[in-house]
Amino acid sequence: MYDLSVIIPTFNEEENIPRIIEEVDAVFRKSNLNGEILVVDDNSKDRTIAIVQKLHTEKENVNILVRTSDHGLSQSVADGFSHASSDIFVVIDADFSHPPALIPKMYDEIRAGNDVVIGSRYMDGGGIKDWPLKRRVISKGATFLGRLLFPDISDPVSGFFAVRKEVVTGAPLKPKGYKILLEVLGKGTWENDKEIPFEFVDREIGSSKLKFRTIAEYAGQVVDIALFSVLHRGSAGWKEWERVIKFGLVGLTGIVVNMGLLYYLKEYVGLYYLVASFIAIEISILNNFLWNDLWTFRTQEKQKLSSRWHRLLAFNLVSAGGVVINLGLLYLFTSVFGVYYLISNLIGILVAFLWNFIINRNITWIKKKTGRV
Ligand code: GDD
Ligand code: MN
Repeated sequence: MYDLSVIIPTFNEEENIPRIIEEVDAVFRKSNLNGEILVVDDNSKDRTIAIVQKLHTEKENVNILVRTSDHGLSQSVADGFSHASSDIFVVIDADFSHPPALIPKMYDEIRAGNDVVIGSRYMDGGGIKDWPLKRRVISKGATFLGRLLFPDISDPVSGFFAVRKEVVTGAPLKPKGYKILLEVLGKGTWENDKEIPFEFVDREIGSSKLKFRTIAEYAGQVVDIALFSVLHRGSAGWKEWERVIKFGLVGLTGIVVNMGLLYYLKEYVGLYYLVASFIAIEISILNNFLWNDLWTFRTQEKQKLSSRWHRLLAFNLVSAGGVVINLGLLYLFTSVFGVYYLISNLIGILVAFLWNFIINRNITWIKKKTGRV
């Protein structure tokens, strides 16, 4: 039995494959690891298959799985999971975008009790070299969507990661497109994750196979995982839904506090209604902050904003933004588009809620990382 299996998906990688196999194998030897290399190829038209088959006759730890149907990077990695002969999998690209030298560290982190270890481009010490603006923008967009599901993970769409076999066995993966990691995080069974920074280096040989269709499929994948998480209470993504629900309930208590105070301050204290409203809004923000800090995000470990005062300040500013969004949309829809004002207000409340949750989740109550970029 091998200590780990390094899964390398390939499609027409004849120039890279012999070099990456050699390098991964050298890393194994250097770190005294009994590792398997499993190339999962989608029936390449170049010499990739022949090259790996030849290496297989020389090194018994090099294997290849040639697929002839359901072409795709994620599908190939998922097939790799079910054909690998060990309990720890590392997925790495063939084109040297990911440094094989990090494999032993990923392996150690899994052995130390992590279920998923992610090579991250988006934390201190990580980065991307030589990517044109267009790729950066697409990647940032994909990362943003992925972080809606897993805000505490800086790079949930990385192609370089390690995972324990139990995380994926039996998981109802629907692999499609490029983002197999997000699928694993969404559908797999895991508790602990760890991110390790690395610098992504764009391929020198060959070209990226990323197509527009891949982006569209990705958006569908995010929706699918969100639905899966809301329907499966045990799933990793459910924890985020739980926060959304609690945040919403807290918001409702805020409305009660706001209305009650407005009434009291105007009718009993005799304040001018706009002044009363201002005070009512501020106190309901305080109310919401306390409930969210003590309840919604109680389980949040090692907050980036470690002081409660800092979190309160952040929450207050974000909420003020929410009020502006609510009023702005109320005005826009009612006075510009002629929508009935209660409907406009509902739109305003909904968008302000999304704003409040997403921004607060990513600023006020975000896990501390060794710096996020
Ligand atoms: N088997 C198989 N089938 N392998 C494929 C396929 C496919 O359809 N398409 C690509 N590959 C292999 C390539 O041969 C390479 O080893 C690896 O998958 C990555 O393919 P690239 O086309 O070079 O991907 P990329 O550089 O655009 O994207 C990388 O970075 C993304 C993060 O921005 C990948 O690592 C992605 O998974 C990652 O999300
Ligand atoms: Mn690449």
